[in-house]
Amino acid sequence: MGIYKSLRKKVTDKTAVITVVGLGYVGLPMAIAFAKKGYKVNGFDTSTKRIDNLHKGISYINDVSSGEIREVVKSGRFHVSGEETILSGSDVLIICVPTPLRKTKVPNISYVVQASRTVARYLRRGQMIILESTTYPGTTRDVILTILRKTGLALDKDFFLSFSPERIDPGNPDYDFTNIPKVLGSFTEDGRKLGKELYSKVIKTVVDVSSPEVAEVTKLLENTFRIVNIGLINEFSHLCHKLGIDVWEVIEAAKTKPFGFMPFYPGPGIGGHCIPKDPVYLSWKARKVGFETRLIDIAAEVNRNVPTHMVERIITILGKYGKKVHGSKVLILGVTYKKDVNDLRESPALDIIKLLAKKGADISYHDPYIPYLDIGGIRSESIVLSKKTLRTFDIAVITADHSSLNYKEIVDCSNLIFDTRNILTKLNLTGKKTVRL
Ligand SMILES: NC(=O)c1ccc[n+]([C@@H]2O[C@H](COP(=O)([O-])OP(=O)(O)OC[C@H]3O[C@@H](n4cnc5c(N)ncnc54)[C@H](O)[C@@H]3O)[C@@H](O)[C@H]2O)c1
Repeated sequence: MGIYKSLRKKVTDKTAVITVVGLGYVGLPMAIAFAKKGYKVNGFDTSTKRIDNLHKGISYINDVSSGEIREVVKSGRFHVSGEETILSGSDVLIICVPTPLRKTKVPNISYVVQASRTVARYLRRGQMIILESTTYPGTTRDVILTILRKTGLALDKDFFLSFSPERIDPGNPDYDFTNIPKVLGSFTEDGRKLGKELYSKVIKTVVDVSSPEVAEVTKLLENTFRIVNIGLINEFSHLCHKLGIDVWEVIEAAKTKPFGFMPFYPGPGIGGHCIPKDPVYLSWKARKVGFETRLIDIAAEVNRNVPTHMVERIITILGKYGKKVHGSKVLILGVTYKKDVNDLRESPALDIIKLLAKKGADISYHDPYIPYLDIGGIRSESIVLSKKTLRTFDIAVITADHSSLNYKEIVDCSNLIFDTRNILTKLNLTGKKTVRL
């Protein structure tokens, strides 16, 4: 049997061994989803801490419960290791490693390179490799394929290679890995059909495109669409504030148009592993071909400045109550980059804290997902909220609107609240002491 037929059979009858390289926000939920469907799944991660947690059956990702991990481990279908030998015997290898930016704001694909070299050491005839990490167009072809070819094995004759971007939205209870349509781009027809067959086992809709590059840019278009529109609404919000117009009311009214408008909402700034940096991957690649992505660059700059505007607003609000920011007791509510996640990466709340600290504010924070915070070498602890403690702060600033907070108590007991997420209006809890963005 040829490699296509034999791999297809394994995928179809679920005897294919799937190895997920990188068990983070993307890799872990996917590994669990395949294991739940009956595949034998191996997980490899270079983080000893994460592997230790998984061995203990403890989840470090909100969207995966510890119970789910224990269940698939108990079923014998999920094994993890920090030793790369776990890759041997795999039929499918899916790479989900980080793609951050370097300090110089250029793509850092060293994790992808390292993971691909690890995969290359275990590459054998009849395997399918898929990259899921978000990256610039050409990475799958120029970086991964080049590394894999050095083994002497040939694309399509010996192995298949595809790119399939992950689209998960951590903390979103309505969508997970299994019900978000998946885009997949492969080099050859057989790779495309095999990739589609594999993902179709766990995902209802798989959208195949003509090449890995189309799939790579599809993901970047999606995230560019978000950064530009978030930048637009953040700028709009700033303008409305200057004009004395309520931006939230404007959005609600604009939303009534049944076509041609999609609501985006202002906030304290952008964060997470995707929106602040993925479009930079595209603008970096664009410069390589002599193209300037002006819209992306401006949106990124507008969004970068939002935490500074937030601090200006806090200073103005305190001033209205006769208080100076220097020496004021400020409570930051929610430090993660968005609600109901435990992810601090690029969180605008951290910038707000740093800027307020520079102005001499006395800052505390509360976040049910982040017990400790280390900012600039200073470690602080999430305070326990109580009626008594809430009363001690000059102002509370809602920066991540986690669902589990007791907003009624926060409103009842705080002296002043600045709500950058508009959660209090949604909960009908606004009053004299509450100011929304
Ligand atoms: N977090 C999201 O919401 C999200 C959504 C869509 C796409 N993505 C993209 O998916 C990719 C992964 O993101 P994430 O949020 O899961 O990152 P993460 O940091 O949570 O997880 C990545 C994991 O890879 C491990 N790792 C690093 N190098 C490795 C190597 N050489 N071999 C094995 N493991 C290695 C890390 O220890 C870590 O546990 C990124 O490209 C990101 O842009 C993320």
